[in-house]
Amino acid sequence: MSAEFATSSANALPLHVLSETALEGWLADQPGAVQAWVKASGFAGGLGQALVVPGAEGAPVMALAGYGSEAARRRSRFHLAAAAAKLPAGDYRIESGLPEDQAATEALGWLLAGYRFDRYREQSPLTARLVAPEGVDAEQITALATGEMLTRDLINTPASDMGPPDLEAAARKLAERHGAQIEVTTGDALLENNLPMIHTVGRAADRVPRLIDMAWGEAGPKLTLVGKGVCFDTGGLNLKPGASMALMKKDMGGAAAVLGLAHMIMATGMEVQLRVLIPAVENSVSGNAFRPGDILTSRKGLTVEINNTDAEGRLVLADALALADEDKPDQIISMATLTGAARVAVGPDLAPYYSDDAAFVSALESAAAGSADPVWRMPFHDAYEALIEPGIADLDNAPKGGFAGSITAALFLRRFVTDSKYAHFDIYGWQPADAPARPKGGTGQGTRAIYAALPALLKP
Ligand code: BES
Ligand code: MN
Ligand code: ZN
Repeated sequence: MSAEFATSSANALPLHVLSETALEGWLADQPGAVQAWVKASGFAGGLGQALVVPGAEGAPVMALAGYGSEAARRRSRFHLAAAAAKLPAGDYRIESGLPEDQAATEALGWLLAGYRFDRYREQSPLTARLVAPEGVDAEQITALATGEMLTRDLINTPASDMGPPDLEAAARKLAERHGAQIEVTTGDALLENNLPMIHTVGRAADRVPRLIDMAWGEAGPKLTLVGKGVCFDTGGLNLKPGASMALMKKDMGGAAAVLGLAHMIMATGMEVQLRVLIPAVENSVSGNAFRPGDILTSRKGLTVEINNTDAEGRLVLADALALADEDKPDQIISMATLTGAARVAVGPDLAPYYSDDAAFVSALESAAAGSADPVWRMPFHDAYEALIEPGIADLDNAPKGGFAGSITAALFLRRFVTDSKYAHFDIYGWQPADAPARPKGGTGQGTRAIYAALPALLKP
C-alpha cells in the first residue's frame, strides 16, 4: 500500500472545489453549455458530489467537487475524499475554490482515500490521482499518509498473521527502511532483563512475549513512544465473552499507532532522538496463564495484585514505561487501546489523552485542529489514586466498580514514570463505519496531532 500524488500536472484535469453557496456565483461566469450540464447533472456542491464537465467535443475539460456547507463540513473530517472516490480515473489538479489553509488536510484526505486493505482479497483501487496543491509540503503529507496506512494495515491484519513475532517483523522492517537500531528481548530473556510483567502476561501463548526496542536519530531532544502491543486479548482466565473479544485483534492498536508515528518522524527527518518501546504479547488462556489474585513484582519494584487478567495492557506497559523512564527522556508518550471505559466516554472519533503539562496540552490542542486528528483531554485525577491501591500490594490492576475506568488505568501507568514528562493516549484504534478517507477498520488516532505538536513540544 503506498500513498502517492500524481507526478505531473501536464495532463491533469482542472478541478473546481465548490461549496453549496459558491456554486451559483461560479456558474454565472460559465458558458451556457456548462451551466446546462451542471444543472442537468444535479450537481449542487454537496459534500462528496463529483462531476466531470465535457467540452464541445465531448471530452472532459474540467471536474467539480462538492465542498458542502459549513455545517456539513463541521460534521466530517476530509471533504474532498468522497468526491475523489467518485471521479473517473485520471489526474486532477485543484484549480479553484479550496481555501489555502485547508489544502494540506484535503490533500492528505485524498491520499488516505486510496487506502485499501488488500492482503486477503483484491480491492479495486482509487484511480483518481491528485496533483499536490501548490504551497503544500507534498513529502510531509505523503509521510503522514504512509504512516497512517502502516497503522491501519497492522491493526487490520488478524492475530493469525499478526502475533508477537509478526509485530516484531513489522518493526524490524520499519527500522531497516529508516536505518534505525532495533533490539528485541524475547521469552525467558524478559525475566533475565527484569521485564517480569511482560513475561507474565504473555507466557500462556505459544507465540512468546517480547519487548521491541527501536532507536533512531543522533541529535535533538529525546522522545520515547510506548505502544501497547497485545496482539490478541482473550481476557485471559477472566475470559471475555464472545462479543467483547470479537475485535481484539486491534489490541495492538497502540503499537500500530506509535509505529505509524515513528514512520512520520523518521521519513521527514525530524531532529529528535526517538525511541519506540513495544511490549508485544498475546493475552491467552492456558495452564500456565497468570491468575486472578496473583501478585506480580514489576520492573520498578512496585507490586501489583491481579484482580482481573483482562486488565493486561497496563501490566505490560508498566514495565516498558519503567524502562523508558530510566533513560530520562524529554518526553514519554504511551498509546494504548487500554480501556473500554475510554470508548464509552468519548466514542471512537476522539483520542482521549492525559497530560498534566500545560505546554504539552497547548501544543497538542493547537496542532490537533490543523491535523484532522481530534483529541480530548482527560484528567489524571489525584483523588482517584486510592482506587488503585488494594492494600496487600502496592497497586490493583482492576479496581472494583469500574468507576472512571480510563482515569484509573492512566493513574496506574503514571506510577511507573517518575523522572520524565509523560502523556498517555487511551485510544480506540478502530473506525466503526466507513467515512470519507477512513474506511471501516483499523485507524490511527492522535498520531498526526502529536507529530504536528512535536516541534513546539521538543523545542530546547
Ligand atoms: N483491550 C481492552 C480494552 C478495550 C476494550 C479497548 C474494548 C477497546 C475496546 C483491555 O485490555 C481491557 O480488557 N480492559 C478492561 C479493564 C478492566 C478489566 C479493568 C476493560 O476496559 O473492561
Ligand atoms: Mn484486556
Ligand atoms: Zn487489552
